Amino acid sequence: MKITVIGLGYVGLTTALCLTRCGHQVIGADISSEKIMALNAGELPIWEPQLDELLDQARDQEAIRFTTDIAAAVSEGEILFICVGTPAGENGRPDLSQLRSLIKPIAWHAKEGAVVVIKSTVPIGTTDTVEKGLYLLSGGKSWDIVHNPEFLRQGKAVTDFLHPDRIVVGTRSSVAASRMRELYRAIDAPFITCDPRSAEIIKYAANGFLAMKISYANMMAQLSESWGADIEAVIKGVGSDRRITPSHLQPGVGFGGSCFPKDTEALLAMGRDADCPMPLVEALQEINRLQPQRVLDKLEQELGSLQGKRIGLLGLTFKPDSDDLREAPSLAISRLARQRGAVLQAYDPLVRDYPVAEVKLVTDPHVLLETCDGIILVTEWEEFRKLSWRRLHSRLHPLVLVDGRNLFSLEEMQRIAEETGLVYLSVGR
Ligand code: UGA
Repeated sequence: MKITVIGLGYVGLTTALCLTRCGHQVIGADISSEKIMALNAGELPIWEPQLDELLDQARDQEAIRFTTDIAAAVSEGEILFICVGTPAGENGRPDLSQLRSLIKPIAWHAKEGAVVVIKSTVPIGTTDTVEKGLYLLSGGKSWDIVHNPEFLRQGKAVTDFLHPDRIVVGTRSSVAASRMRELYRAIDAPFITCDPRSAEIIKYAANGFLAMKISYANMMAQLSESWGADIEAVIKGVGSDRRITPSHLQPGVGFGGSCFPKDTEALLAMGRDADCPMPLVEALQEINRLQPQRVLDKLEQELGSLQGKRIGLLGLTFKPDSDDLREAPSLAISRLARQRGAVLQAYDPLVRDYPVAEVKLVTDPHVLLETCDGIILVTEWEEFRKLSWRRLHSRLHPLVLVDGRNLFSLEEMQRIAEETGLVYLSVGR
């Protein structure tokens, strides 16, 4: 099939490249000429595992083209994917201006019978509004329109796209539903069809639930710690229940990223607009807001005060295998630590530019082990497992390490603590 993907952020680019893997011919369109130039030169504007191989293959097989000409791209596709950003706008409501700007070019340039698929995360009722806009701007033509939410995790986007738990297709058009089945024929996953509004809620409800699981785990971690239990054992025991599963039950410094914070805010806004209270969502946000502070408090209690202390952050991105700093817990931690007088250094494998200017970036994590009074492990990058703790022998004062992600085994760290004088603290154990 001939597919047009508009908006080449991480969702759009993953969709475009994975669809070439499914045997389709794809045109990727974006208004950023910088992005298109990079892609046409075979370079990825984002960091995401496996995408580079897919880009090379698709270019070799001439299965993909990139352009800034939205109208021309729209005029060629049998299926038009809208993957533009819907960032947080006023009062927690998503800003839909990028989506709105596409209604005219689609209404004017789409070919007869093209199916319009909104993949961007959009508030309830948006698909219906877009359908109405297309109808009015095209002089009363009827449209086959779909909401097809994505459930990709950054860092695992390609695997999640090609091996999803389900494909959700929200549409009132049986023609569009069967075109979508055909489109995803190469992907083996349950196919859930419903009306567009239910599909819109599915996306927010799923992210809200996952965010709730994380906050629940963080709450249980606090309880475990207060009563001398081990949260890792608790998670194992609870997550083994097939009704619960261990996914998104890992306690830590709180969730961040471009999705959970924005989508839980949007859930609250949609609730407010419908006069429908959302106390669970309010509670999960509050737990998440306090989590970075709790982790920092641990360090402060151990060091007495953070005033003038050299504090290191291991990892800055909101999760490993991503270069994304949006709503990263490291931002809240470093701002709070600054307010409490700490002098900050940080190491992250991918970050070369950090928005909190007072944080000095180093290129070797061992510098932190040698020079800091305290360290918080904020992002669980695999490479931290290989840190050489022998470097601690050259220190005059013991280092305090708060493992904000429970990356290390307690037993192993107790052994290292005995050998080196390290003070090891973690979350909920
Ligand atoms: C999330 C969802 O998992 C995807 O299904 C969804 O498609 C995506 O949002 C989206 O809406 O686009 P993502 O934000 O990439 O994906 O990453 P997650 O792996 O879900 O992690 C989000 C945050 O929660 C990270 O800061 C992570 O460190 C934290 N987290 C995750 C925990 O603290 N504990 C966990 O057990 C899992």
